Amino acid sequence: MPTADLRLEYSGALDSAVGATHGMSTAEIDAEAGRVRNVVAEIEAERANGQHRYRELPKDSRMVALVRAAVRRFRPGAENLVVLGIGGSALGNTALQTALNPWTHNLLPTATRRGPRLFVLDNVDPTQIGAMLDYLSPALKKTVFNVISKSGETAETAAQFLIIRDLLARRLGKAGLAKRLIVTTDPAGGILRDIVTREKYANLPVPDGVGGRFSVLSAVGLFSAAMCGINVTRLLAGAAAMSRRAAQPDPRKNPAAMLALLLVGFYARGKRLHVMMPYSQQLRDLADWYRQLWAESLGKRDDLSGRTVMTGPTPIRALGATDQHSQVQLYRDGPNDKVFIFLEVERFARDVKIPRAAGTPAELAYLQGGTLGKLLNAEKRATEYALTANERPCLTIRFPRVDEHTVGQFLMLWEAATTIAGRLLNVNPYDQPAVQLGKDMTYALLGRRGFEAQARELQAALKQRGRHEV
Ligand code: PA5
Repeated sequence: MPTADLRLEYSGALDSAVGATHGMSTAEIDAEAGRVRNVVAEIEAERANGQHRYRELPKDSRMVALVRAAVRRFRPGAENLVVLGIGGSALGNTALQTALNPWTHNLLPTATRRGPRLFVLDNVDPTQIGAMLDYLSPALKKTVFNVISKSGETAETAAQFLIIRDLLARRLGKAGLAKRLIVTTDPAGGILRDIVTREKYANLPVPDGVGGRFSVLSAVGLFSAAMCGINVTRLLAGAAAMSRRAAQPDPRKNPAAMLALLLVGFYARGKRLHVMMPYSQQLRDLADWYRQLWAESLGKRDDLSGRTVMTGPTPIRALGATDQHSQVQLYRDGPNDKVFIFLEVERFARDVKIPRAAGTPAELAYLQGGTLGKLLNAEKRATEYALTANERPCLTIRFPRVDEHTVGQFLMLWEAATTIAGRLLNVNPYDQPAVQLGKDMTYALLGRRGFEAQARELQAALKQRGRHEV
């Protein structure tokens, strides 16, 4: 049975909660609603013409069938699953796993785990990958490697792939390598697709028109999720339900539109830091996933008419209650330049009672007989109150419970809100031109053919700058 809908509460962002200087009035929201309606209508019309393809992923039954077939092939006997990828080809995998499987998943014995242990690399740190190789080396025959790269040429993923391919080929031979490897990449082009075609590796497509950070609901996120026992049908049903809400023109019925309206509205009022603070360990990595989506999609130098605007909110991940003891001092008393987006869970999948015990000091009596869930939610409400008391606007996204259906809603909520926010900011949310220079200079430093001019440019710049250190 699907759980109830995710809800966005914005009372803590209104002038009635945080005052007229820092809050938005309902009249201001109404004034913006007309523009947002038009934007939503435009986006829906564009969907009919094949744009915003991530919105169609929840109904892509062919993709689900391909993922299920791959799981049937790779799951038997798999004790470990390693995702080789980075950014949009990794963050969603981690977020789904930590939201929907127990915190202890990788530590559980095979019989109680819902699938293989999952390791998502998302980096090329030699100590991290060296340690993983040491750990997995004796168990290669029970390990599946899923290389994910939409472009098929990301340096970090390519390096991870070359290391694993060499290891598997040396230890298990060509046939053993093919049994342990599945590649998720562009269906038509790219270096990785060429390798897959040549070597006949098992593979899954990243659908055309779906960019990395919008791809979690495609084979990119679904394969590792399904391998690890997550119900992808319910995940997609949740996403589809949110997609329907996100098609409603009226922001009062459309949480994605309301989210975009409020956050872009606050950005325009100088609240440029958007802090997502889940009060749930399970939801922490969803906030990491949001960080990439919001930053890479909205942080742009040029707007759609080519004007230099250098726009974009800075997303920040915090965690309740942990960061009450780390960040909240700043959040409450420091610059009033932030909007807070709390994630709250109404009913935790399980709760832990705080026992009564004879001899407990009277000062701790308030905790006794309660539960950790009650404590965590009280802390959320108290922190929100403390922030609003200092005129800091707060939103809450409320999960009736954390399960596949609500997590699917959450993913689609933010993806749809990002598209709308992009339109309100007049930027292209689907490109990332600013990451290219760093990639090119990495190629130049490593001597990639064709990047000789960049290598000279970099050396000249470093020489001119000199070296100053203490
Ligand atoms: O959102 C994006 O497009 C990027 O963050 C990519 O996901 C990231 O750079 C990895 O790219 P690829 O999947 O092509 O290896």
